[in-house]
Amino acid sequence: MTPVWQLSRCALTLLLLTAARFVSAQEIDGESGLIKAEGWTVVKSTCTACHAGMMITQNAGNLAVWKSRIRWMQETQGLRTLSSDEEAVILNYLSVNYPQKTSSRRAGLPARLLPANPAEASD
Ligand code: HEC
Repeated sequence: MTPVWQLSRCALTLLLLTAARFVSAQEIDGESGLIKAEGWTVVKSTCTACHAGMMITQNAGNLAVWKSRIRWMQETQGLRTLSSDEEAVILNYLSVNYPQKTSSRRAGLPARLLPANPAEASD
């Protein structure tokens, strides 16, 4: 093995070790699945009484989106009124850790690219 090859293998190992550290830097609560970041304990105690934390971790949104979900739960699902401090901590946690995602769905096909519909076939 050439020294250059050995050196690059060593560099790669170092890079992978560093990357692994970054990945594990985001700690997850084993019970709720929530990211352990600022405000997570408030979210866990307020938001996992009725449903699993997964309901939160599978969702995404900016502050306005999360606020509208909280309002919807308050108006229709029995979520209690939150103090303005509680709400601010919760909304900050949700919008920072589960932010808006850009849509990953492709746009629909234009009509000219759709296959012919056999039900409309003429004779
Ligand atoms: C009083 C009960 C209750 C509490 C407390 C509660 N939720 Fe919910 N939440 C519900 C119910 C019921 C649903 C609908 C569940 C379903 O569709 O199966 C729901 C659904 C959701 C959804 C999915 C909404 C959608 O678009 O489908 C999200 C996100 C959510 N909750 C987040 C939260 C957050 C964040 C908190 C804390 C601020 C919270 N919930 C606290 C009752 C609650």
